[in-house]
Amino acid sequence: MDLQHLEAPPTDAERAAVDALLGPAGSAWEGGDRTEGDLRRADGGHTARARRDLLLPALHAVNDRIGWVSEEALGYICRRLTVPPAEAYGVATFYSMLSLRERPRRQVHVCTDIACAARGAQRLRAEVAERLGEPGHAPGAPEGAPRADGPEQQDVTWAESPCLGLCERAPAALVLEAGERPRYAVAAPATAEEVCGPALPEPAGANGASANGHRPAPRTTFSPEPLPGPAAEPPPEASVPQVGDPGLILLRRIGAADPEDLDSYRAHGGYTALRRALLLGPSGVIREVTDAGLAGRGGAAFPTGRKWAATAQRPETPRYLVCNADESEPGTFKDRVIMEGDPFSLIEAMTVAGYAIGAQTGYLYIRGEYPRALSRLENAIAQARARGLLGPDVLGSGFSFDIEIRRGAGAYICGEETAIFNSIEGLRGEPRSKPPFPVEYGLFGRPTAVNNVETLVNVLPILQMGGPGYASIGVPGSTGPKLYCVSGTVARPGVYELPFGATLRELLELAGGCAPGREPRAVLLGGAAGGFVRGDELDFPLTVQGARDAGTTLGSGVVLVFDDTVDMAAVLVRIAAFFRDESCGQCVPCRVGTVRQEEALIRLSRGAGTGTELPLLREVGAAMRDASICGLGQTAWNAVESAIDRLGVFAGAAPASPTAPEEAP
Ligand SMILES: Cc1cc2nc3c(=O)[nH]c(=O)nc-3n(C[C@H](O)[C@H](O)[C@H](O)COP(=O)(O)O)c2cc1C
Ligand code: SF4
Repeated sequence: MDLQHLEAPPTDAERAAVDALLGPAGSAWEGGDRTEGDLRRADGGHTARARRDLLLPALHAVNDRIGWVSEEALGYICRRLTVPPAEAYGVATFYSMLSLRERPRRQVHVCTDIACAARGAQRLRAEVAERLGEPGHAPGAPEGAPRADGPEQQDVTWAESPCLGLCERAPAALVLEAGERPRYAVAAPATAEEVCGPALPEPAGANGASANGHRPAPRTTFSPEPLPGPAAEPPPEASVPQVGDPGLILLRRIGAADPEDLDSYRAHGGYTALRRALLLGPSGVIREVTDAGLAGRGGAAFPTGRKWAATAQRPETPRYLVCNADESEPGTFKDRVIMEGDPFSLIEAMTVAGYAIGAQTGYLYIRGEYPRALSRLENAIAQARARGLLGPDVLGSGFSFDIEIRRGAGAYICGEETAIFNSIEGLRGEPRSKPPFPVEYGLFGRPTAVNNVETLVNVLPILQMGGPGYASIGVPGSTGPKLYCVSGTVARPGVYELPFGATLRELLELAGGCAPGREPRAVLLGGAAGGFVRGDELDFPLTVQGARDAGTTLGSGVVLVFDDTVDMAAVLVRIAAFFRDESCGQCVPCRVGTVRQEEALIRLSRGAGTGTELPLLREVGAAMRDASICGLGQTAWNAVESAIDRLGVFAGAAPASPTAPEEAP
């Protein structure tokens, strides 16, 4: 691709997609028609560059409309947003859901990650490959790649995907079809017949439809009508085996309140927490959250009250709230279930958080593979706005707060709290070095509190029952209810809610244990960045400290169970491939280390080890842990190390000869 402005214009459809987001081009400087006025002025400077944060939404708009982003479309976006083409190219190529190569309108993403692999993903993968050829075989596929040539194959392309966050219904696939109103279908458990159909004809009049000169009213990004083919998606409560249990706190509305209706939410206790917050005042809210002992549920378990207090006391304004709904850790799906089943609770909780820290804008960064959650949140925000629960004067209190949704585009690293800032700002989603920390220098260089979805929705019961009341749930040091994403070879996978302190065995019993006659061989806690425990080590309490003492971490609540039918070496290779693929490549220990780790594991899993692999893995793992910039590299060796040391995977691998390193050339 030539990295300069092209004179070649975008197609009408590409231009319409961009204009629908940005409004029509106001001048020739922006890629519009030349007018008299253009001869007398030039656009530039800060004002022109201030819309850089719309780069990712603009790329999405074209990708959603056409299926890929052509050079001409990229050039038009660059003109509209005053972004240098080389930088826009760098951003567009960062995300796996965007394509700068021509491809069919329909894309099938087949999850081959660890939870799906434990439940038949390899068979699904093979069947899809039989119908559609190997992944990526479509117009624009790498040269020389063989491609099947039936009519279906012309219309559809497919890719192996990292975890789609549908682990409770594995094996999963997501079908996306570009068009004026892009459509999607979630198939889980998926079959090849369901997901391999050809793309549907475009609805009449869609092609080249141009914007009418006005910014359109906000609309759901995806059509509410899912693509035909896969069976209808079950409601969110189907992912909550405890549904209806009166003891539930965080999940109590799922299956009870209508997730698309604000009145129903209010009838089930919605917006009482915000009213109480407005009575307490910002510092009162922070005091309650601190007294509650709430710790972040996104993985690092940082005290939320301290984070909010540190943000609120910064003198710089504006301050921002960012809700981290990127949820891409393999095995994690709790945030999706909340967003699909109880979306208003997240909107209310974000409003409370914004009030506490003195923010007027909250960004909700949701992973790109969650179409139903996205629609439900867009609907919830629109209804809240219409009823004065968001906007310039929330509930007549004078507090001004609104929420902007930003959609990720297939990059796990964007869940890291500083990478998320870069992604929102229209830069490559690479983590920043810390310090400075987000509370002092975050989004757009302003004080920012980043919180996970589950963390935020915990604030509602805290305000309803009071900080000390909430703190009485769980155990000292780990207070409140906790959500667990239970998947793999268990009888009843799903999202479970238990007070902190329940044991892993109790949780697995609740989930029905393994199939009759089978025992859990291993449980992965905390996801790919977490650690394994053995099937005979299930009696420790699920608390931050309890997990630490057991040599693992609760992380984001992943509890992935493997019975003795699962090939653990293959699981490790998949984990390593995930980290190699998702490393942003910014720092050497992680960029090189994740590749070396995967290579060594592949050799070991094939029985082709040379005796040097285990020492090499330890050395590379230590370098990644000690010298990587962010948590991805720092944790990329955790699960592999625990599998080798605790589960004895590769126990038969020959140890390296002590003289081997010296002998190496
Ligand atoms: C590679 C990486 C990916 C992450 N992904 C997520 C994520 O998807 N969701 C999330 O809430 N936190 C994620 N985190 C943790 C965030 O950096 C941050 O700690 C969290 O959003 C803070 O919110 P909390 O205090 O409410 O937990 C990730 C961290 C790393 C290092
Ligand atoms: S550790 Fe990995 S993901 Fe994190 S900044 Fe370095 S290269 Fe990027």
